[in-house]
Amino acid sequence: MAPPAAAVVGASGPVGRAVVKHLAAAAERFNGIKALSRTPAKTELPVGVTGVEASMSSAVELEKALAGVDTVSIVAPQGSPELRRDLTVASAKAAKAAGVGHVALLSVDQAVDGTTVFGRQFKEIEDAVTGLGFQHGVTVVRFPMFLDNIWGAKDSIKSMSKIFEPQDPTVKARYITVDDVGAALAGAMADPHKHGGRVYNPSAPLHTKTDLAAAFSDALGRPVEFVRIPDSDCIAFLTGTLGMPEWQANGVINIYNGINAGLKHMVRDGVDDFRSLTGRDPSTAVEFVKAIAPNGF
Ligand SMILES: NC(=O)c1ccc[n+]([C@@H]2O[C@H](COP(=O)([O-])OP(=O)(O)OC[C@H]3O[C@@H](n4cnc5c(N)ncnc54)[C@H](OP(=O)(O)O)[C@@H]3O)[C@@H](O)[C@H]2O)c1
Repeated sequence: MAPPAAAVVGASGPVGRAVVKHLAAAAERFNGIKALSRTPAKTELPVGVTGVEASMSSAVELEKALAGVDTVSIVAPQGSPELRRDLTVASAKAAKAAGVGHVALLSVDQAVDGTTVFGRQFKEIEDAVTGLGFQHGVTVVRFPMFLDNIWGAKDSIKSMSKIFEPQDPTVKARYITVDDVGAALAGAMADPHKHGGRVYNPSAPLHTKTDLAAAFSDALGRPVEFVRIPDSDCIAFLTGTLGMPEWQANGVINIYNGINAGLKHMVRDGVDDFRSLTGRDPSTAVEFVKAIAPNGF
């Protein structure tokens, strides 16, 4: 079978850049790789990747850029729920109109029930995109919270050696690095016939917040403590210090609440699903912390 021509829609954000990086690393498995973005000149692209100017908000630009493409990864943007849904679904419709046969779709764990803030948004996106009827199907890849969000705790780790979050420190939960999100989506794109029409739930090996604090203690050579805080303090931090809109902060709290309640889709191990998509093991929390700890923590 001929290797598929690949494209990433929304290639300039952290996830899009990670997908592009992993596609380029496996360039021999693709018949060309395009990175679509409103500002391709601003994004440094790996060798073997062609930057193409196309906005998620322009069906005309997308259809033109996606002509001849076999598999596409559509990275839902952050922003309001409407922006996320409308741009993602419109991008999928443009891909279908351009004749693309397979989509690797970023989604979230909570889309399985659709009763939470992010769950509702991504279930709506999943239903709309899978309903378009791509020839080789849609690979829905449901991700947990990103380990990289720990950058938001850099100041408290640096100044107080403490991590403050509302998660029960004894619960082993699913997380994943952004780099591995990119690897999983790129893996799905490399074999549309195998992965099309399937749902995957990849994650790093499960770990507790106590494990995470211990990883920082080891990496930094000083004790770092995890402190469980009330949901209201977390919302105040997310909306105040990080400037997150309230609806989004409430969505983050839904995730912690689901983990604390032990909901299966929030605490199940996703290592096998990651291996199925990539053929290798995901990064562990310890490896991730070791890699980032020298950068200002
Ligand atoms: N943080 C977590 O723990 C977590 C967990 C699971 C899922 N997620 C989700 O993962 C997704 C990807 O994250 P990310 O940070 O990589 O996303 P991002 O940078 O916000 O957005 C991805 C792409 O969306 C496009 N975009 C944004 N606003 C646009 C607009 N107004 N018009 C046209 N295009 C627009 C950008 O395209 P251009 O390339 O054209 O600029 C960008 O490359 C998000 O939906 C996020 O919520 C996050």
